[in-house]
Amino acid sequence: MELQNKNVFVTGSTRGIGLAIAKAFAQQGANIVLNGRKEISAELIAEIETFGVKCIGISGDISDFSSAKDMLEQAQEQLGEIQVLVNNAGMNNDKLLLRMKEEDFEDVLKVNLTGTFNMTQHILKKMMKQKAGVIINISSVSGLIGNVGQANYAASKAGVVGFTKTVAKEAAPRGITCNAIAPGFIATDMTDVLSDKIKAQINETIPLQHLGSPEDVAKTAVFLAQSPYITGQVISVDGGLVMQG
Ligand code: NAI
Repeated sequence: MELQNKNVFVTGSTRGIGLAIAKAFAQQGANIVLNGRKEISAELIAEIETFGVKCIGISGDISDFSSAKDMLEQAQEQLGEIQVLVNNAGMNNDKLLLRMKEEDFEDVLKVNLTGTFNMTQHILKKMMKQKAGVIINISSVSGLIGNVGQANYAASKAGVVGFTKTVAKEAAPRGITCNAIAPGFIATDMTDVLSDKIKAQINETIPLQHLGSPEDVAKTAVFLAQSPYITGQVISVDGGLVMQG
């Protein structure tokens, strides 16, 4: 898809990977909807507008079905039809399974998996009518190979993979693509909480020997949006951590 003047909704785009994705699309001339749970700052909107595109901020919780619908309707009212949805918003709450409370599991599933469902179902109705559209879901390598302390997170991200492939099959006849990106360890607030010792240990397990940047993930999102013959795929952006056959 040619991205100039297209409208791109990036969930969870006030910081980290989501913000980098928003900037990468803006760099290609796309108008941007920034989203997060809290109010989107005027500074952030102005920063995106420096790329010469329109940018609006719509705050709300993707894990709430009606709030997801409201946010997409507001975006369409202000910008017009949305051509690209990036389901990036996510959270983690790591602990060993034996210490994990029921709500620790459910809260993470509700944002990462149900939130992705909520946003996708609402936008898909529009995209089916438009007979065009791009959906990109941010999964994680944890969802592909599991990770100690992340039973809730890994289950949610594995769910995103199955969801992506199903949406890809259901939407393909209308020319809509749906793919997932599985980032490895990326330097953001989410990984900043790890100690230097843990980060050094992680680096030893990564063939490219360093954490990725949010921009590494963003480049892949733009690539997928520009690739009309790729659908139902999961692309790892992880320095070679998970090599799938
Ligand atoms: P982050 O914690 O820095 O940012 C998360 C963003 O999501 C924030 O803008 C936050 O406001 C928003 N958000 C969270 N819950 C929300 C909700 N219910 N409704 C609306 N917005 C909500 O996260 P980061 O590191 O940038 O991660 C982005 C995505 O990439 C997440 O889905 C995460 O699981 C995934 N990921 C991150 C990795 C990493 O190493 N940082 C590795 C693999 C995947």
